[in-house]
Amino acid sequence: MTDFHWWQTAVIYQIYPRSFMDSNGDGIGDLQGVIDRLDYLNDGTPNSLGVDAIWLSPFYPSPMADFGYDVADYCDVDPLFGDLATFDRLVAEAHKRNIKIIIDWVPNHTSDQHAWFVESRASRDNPKRDWYIWRPPSSSAHGKIGGEPGLPNNWGSFFGGPAWSFDEKTGQYYLHQFVREQPELNWRNPQVEQTMYETLRFWLKRGVDGFRMDVIGLIIKDEALRDNPVNQNADPNLPVNDLFNRLIQKYNMDQDEVHPYIRRIRSLLDEFDERVGIGELWLDLPRWVKYYGEHGEGLHLPFNFRLIEQPWQARAVRASVDEMEAALPSFAWPNYVLGNHDQPRLATRAGGEAQARLGAMLLLTLRGTPTLYYGDELGMPNTPILPEQMVDPQGINLGVERTRDVARTPMQWDAGDFAGFSTAQPWLPLPKDYPSRNVAGQRTDEHSTLSLYRRLIWLRRASPALQSGSYRPLETDSENVFAYLRESGSELQLVALNFGGDPVTVRIALEGQGKIQLSTHLDRFDEIQFPAIPLRSYEGLVVEVAQKERI
Ligand code: NOJ
Repeated sequence: MTDFHWWQTAVIYQIYPRSFMDSNGDGIGDLQGVIDRLDYLNDGTPNSLGVDAIWLSPFYPSPMADFGYDVADYCDVDPLFGDLATFDRLVAEAHKRNIKIIIDWVPNHTSDQHAWFVESRASRDNPKRDWYIWRPPSSSAHGKIGGEPGLPNNWGSFFGGPAWSFDEKTGQYYLHQFVREQPELNWRNPQVEQTMYETLRFWLKRGVDGFRMDVIGLIIKDEALRDNPVNQNADPNLPVNDLFNRLIQKYNMDQDEVHPYIRRIRSLLDEFDERVGIGELWLDLPRWVKYYGEHGEGLHLPFNFRLIEQPWQARAVRASVDEMEAALPSFAWPNYVLGNHDQPRLATRAGGEAQARLGAMLLLTLRGTPTLYYGDELGMPNTPILPEQMVDPQGINLGVERTRDVARTPMQWDAGDFAGFSTAQPWLPLPKDYPSRNVAGQRTDEHSTLSLYRRLIWLRRASPALQSGSYRPLETDSENVFAYLRESGSELQLVALNFGGDPVTVRIALEGQGKIQLSTHLDRFDEIQFPAIPLRSYEGLVVEVAQKERI
């Protein structure tokens, strides 16, 4: 597989640093904690999970208004998480184990405590005034809600309320599409652009292998900051303050002018060896695919969140995969995500742990780079969070059903106090079931969800077909079954996934026989005589097709 880049064959694992492992007993995870658990992630043997790369959500100095996505210094580590020396050790220890390090880069906004913003807001003629997006009050109608002097336009914040806050001292508004503590940088100012590139170089020189780029499609907005059109199809039950979803996001993100910036970011990465650029982009297929560039000069992997948006049904999932495969230019490498720190947990979305196990097989056998979210390998569902326990600003502003805290609770390492995550009360509550759902218990249980993830990852690693082979969907006679072939050289693997709760003997367009490599139930390795494949409730199979049986 020498023709492939590491980021094509890798399995990426997302760590939310606050919640992975606390090494100093303050109830909050830290970088030393990650170092302490690297062997769990990959010790070079199939006893470990076997991931190839970790993506760390932000660990920079931050007032934590959005838990680190409000960065006060791009080139340091928050004391909560450690320091630069700890980070350097993390890189060295990870690299020793052939684990790559991807870090989060938050280019669209800083913290309001960042020195740049402190200067910018000091006076209208401050040299850094233009580093952020300031506008005078407007006299137009939409400004006049709630005693505001006059909002510059109608944009709403993702987290509720208007996307503008008024600065009394200087008499102008600044733009923030998240919380007011996250003012947006003005990327049209060349000094901002160059300074942000230096932050990338800072970490590249420290040895990071790539970046996950936060809301990268937002860095350029319409130059005239025009009003967004009203969304006539908006859900009538939206919370009153959800101005964002009442509008069509036409002028505040994904402007055509962003692409030259993406190309320059890519060229910068290419100054270094084999680094990866991953972008957070929730866009329709035709707009999303542009972020790969016209000839591969864009991002290596614009995150593909489409499986998260599908109903958990075979037909919908297949359609999403096939549409994406069809839209990709030949140079573009696919990728899939089934969970992250902003979404309800996979096991909750899919309807239970059995369905989530099927999701694991899907994610780890499709053509493209999979990104796993910490804790999903234990089959963790959402942790129930009471309104008074909420800390996420999204939930606090938009209601408990929108809180992301449910998917950010501590990793469950063992059945002991605080789940082995910390010696102190963790920053978010643990679920009641942690004594029976944790790494220590699942590690020794050969049928556990953790064992399934481990087996899938090591099977994938040993299989060129699964790691980098072609993808071909197969017709079946059951609407609940999604089946596909992965092929490389002389190796042919069939994947058949029963999304239904009922057993089914599905017929597929394949003759001959094969041998089961893995069942999501982890209990059978028998031979299969095609075209009939017996599948139990929510069972998925990887079946190696015998060579002579090629169709
Ligand atoms: C996307 C991040 O994933 C999310 O957690 C954050 O709140 C926003 N971007 C703002 O940075």
